[in-house]
Amino acid sequence: MVSAACSKSDDYLNSATPEDVVTQSTLADTSKTDTSGTPVVPVPVIPGAVTLRNNVPFPVGAAVNINLLQNDTAYRALVSREFSSITAESKMKISALHPSENVYKWENADYLVDFALSQHMRVHGHTLIWGSSLPTWIKEFKGDSVAWENLFRDYIHTVVSHFKGRVASWDVVNEPFKDDGTLKSTLWSQKLGSDYIARAFIYAHEADPNAVLFLNDYGHEYGNNKRRGIISYVKGLVARGIPIHGIGMQMHARYNLDDNSFVKAITEVGATGLKVHISELDIALNPSSNKSLVLTPELLDLQAAKYKLVFKTYNSLPKSQQFGITTWNVTDGDSWIPDNYNRPDWPLLFDAHYNKKPAYAAVLEAVK
Ligand code: G3I
Repeated sequence: MVSAACSKSDDYLNSATPEDVVTQSTLADTSKTDTSGTPVVPVPVIPGAVTLRNNVPFPVGAAVNINLLQNDTAYRALVSREFSSITAESKMKISALHPSENVYKWENADYLVDFALSQHMRVHGHTLIWGSSLPTWIKEFKGDSVAWENLFRDYIHTVVSHFKGRVASWDVVNEPFKDDGTLKSTLWSQKLGSDYIARAFIYAHEADPNAVLFLNDYGHEYGNNKRRGIISYVKGLVARGIPIHGIGMQMHARYNLDDNSFVKAITEVGATGLKVHISELDIALNPSSNKSLVLTPELLDLQAAKYKLVFKTYNSLPKSQQFGITTWNVTDGDSWIPDNYNRPDWPLLFDAHYNKKPAYAAVLEAVK
């Protein structure tokens, strides 16, 4: 076991537990506007209702699409009712926040944060440093190592400071590992050297010492090499006193992955003693990209069984390590998977009409 380099306030971390939700006011503050002046319309939180946020004993989050949040009332209501944590699907990435060298754009991210806080939800920041989704100006930036370090440090300081006290946690570095468990070569590693990861955590911690800081990556459940490379690397950071508090397991998974792969991944990451965030969960039903696949009750049941396994296994981790489980998107209608892979798929807990799928009941059953 390794312990986190910095002690965290569990009160802050658990600021949106289900217990809070049932005891808080049933209607969020109606006087709030976001920082662009748009009213943040409150949505009732129903005390005692059977919802994910009321019934799962750790934070349950979703990656949220800002356009739907602003324009689709049913989507917005479902997000408020069911989830106690929010991650921005795209609007806190560097391409959205810092689209050109002298421009920061906060409006969309601020809207999302204001909405979440008005609904007593935790906000998880995604993501500070990633080799993808980079704006052109960074890809074309010319400068020596000092100029690159300044750009890198200033960006982290500016963003984490802007959201200080409102965003509880950050994916400080996203997807830095290859499948073989060694570090990827990215623009950041090329310009800053491979120890950029440690410095990213130091800079984020400088800007908000209360923020819970994660290294986030995918594929922990698909093979030992990558997961063990990540675990070993993170243990090395902790041993050096780098302020890293947790490991984000994205878990873009599929229904036909064997149970043992899920259990082994969650258990081994949990054995670090650090916080564990299943940060981008979805369970695909069409991993072979069959264009004419038809959804069947059997597939839905197999998916429900995997969701149940993930929530049950996660629930057996020590409470202090349970940062939460976040699904990547809200419903099958807004999932990134069909567009990205150009195929039909149904990977989430709600269908495109906002109905609960069998996996929803399975999740509640898993944590009883
Ligand atoms: O907003 C533009 C739109 O104006 C334009 O017409 C359209 C044309 O392609 O693109 C739109 O932007 C897209 C954006 O999503 C908003 O929908 C980008 O092309 C597209 O690349 C972007 O994809 C996102 C991707 O990260 C890259 O940032 C996905 O929505 C998002 O779900 C995905 O999320 C990632 C996590 O951050 C990290 N882990 C994997 C996960 C899934 O790939």
